[in-house]
Amino acid sequence: MTRRTLLNRLALGINALAALLVGVPLVGFVFAPAVDKAKNKWISIGKLEEFTAGQTKLATYINPYLVPWDNEVAKVPCWVRRIDETTFQVFAINCAHLGCPVKWFAESQLFMCPCHGGVYYADGSRASGPPPRGLFEYQYRLENGHLEVRGGRLPTIQESV
Ligand code: FES
Repeated sequence: MTRRTLLNRLALGINALAALLVGVPLVGFVFAPAVDKAKNKWISIGKLEEFTAGQTKLATYINPYLVPWDNEVAKVPCWVRRIDETTFQVFAINCAHLGCPVKWFAESQLFMCPCHGGVYYADGSRASGPPPRGLFEYQYRLENGHLEVRGGRLPTIQESV
């Protein structure tokens, strides 16, 4: 083997390795959303009888993007408003301004944000303060006596359109 042939093969090998190192993450980035099962997974947040019509209640579900060291952080809270037998609203707990957790006050029928005074009506629409819009809502469905949400798809403006 000549010196030229050896260097050509070495350069080819290094280029192939570099292409592999760049290509694998790119392929993963392109195709991962298509096989991302957690994103489209429906997750139960409770039995239907746990929610009373006309009331709003805190519920939690386990984040489908769970990693072993998450522990308590894996529990994602959300506010569930049962309007009637089959109609619900499931709100993200995060304020639409900068994401602080909002709290429900049944006495005043308002959600209030402790950070900058954002206020929302019972239907999640904006009442006052800095939030530019109402609370974000999860997609939900009723299945086998359970209320389920798409927990892998955190509600955003994009989801609500
Ligand atoms: S984060 Fe809620 S009002 Fe600013």
